[in-house]
Amino acid sequence: MAPQLLPSSVLFLLHIALLLLLLVPCSAQVGGSCSSARDCGTGLYCGSCAAPGRTRLSCIRNLAIQPTSIVKGLPFNHYSWLVTHNSFSILGEPSRTGAERVTFYNQEDSVTNQLRNGVRGLMLDMYDFNDDVWLCHSLQGQCYNFTAFVPAVETLKEVEAFLSENPLEIVTIFIEDYVHSPMGLSKVFTAADLMKYWYPISEMPTNGKRTGQASQIWLQRTTGC
Ligand SMILES: *[C@@H]1O[C@H](CO)[C@@H](O)[C@H](O)[C@H]1NC(C)=O
Repeated sequence: MAPQLLPSSVLFLLHIALLLLLLVPCSAQVGGSCSSARDCGTGLYCGSCAAPGRTRLSCIRNLAIQPTSIVKGLPFNHYSWLVTHNSFSILGEPSRTGAERVTFYNQEDSVTNQLRNGVRGLMLDMYDFNDDVWLCHSLQGQCYNFTAFVPAVETLKEVEAFLSENPLEIVTIFIEDYVHSPMGLSKVFTAADLMKYWYPISEMPTNGKRTGQASQIWLQRTTGC
């Protein structure tokens, strides 16, 4: 008699498991219809593409090719990295202050998804607000309840989570810095547990040469819009 490969009780359990799998609602993948990002899988957002005949919202991913996947071993500043401007100014981001927001929006993806999809530089406008440091898309160096987005620590924690999961990646943060509170920026980077990834200013390379230990956070301060 040929040996039975799987006893019938195991087969029965497998059937049940397959049925359960079919019953669990799964998030839509690229091109699947959606009404909000929650309907879409990891790294996707819900939006409309400017394609002929396409009117419904669908799950979308904008994926950047990493330059290191094309050529390896160049100095850091010989690569071009995708950077998002006002990375935190995300369409549909609910108001945290209760005030209706009046500002311009620059992004559709959450910061986590921006990083997952290949963004390696974030431009963040940091302000003193509500006894904390907030990301605001504001004017004249003053954050208002109608220009405020999120406490900076929340977004920086998203960066921390990404760097922990991806130890070979380097993220540059450009700060448009309106923070005057003493040690305000240091406190918020410490609170987000990002200091361990910080590239020491004293080791900033010159002439495109990177020296010292591997670090994952590269910090630039900017002035700008
Ligand atoms: C927003 O700030 C203004 C001015 O400080 C204040 O009058 C208003 O009540 C605030 N709105 C909310 C919803 O907190």
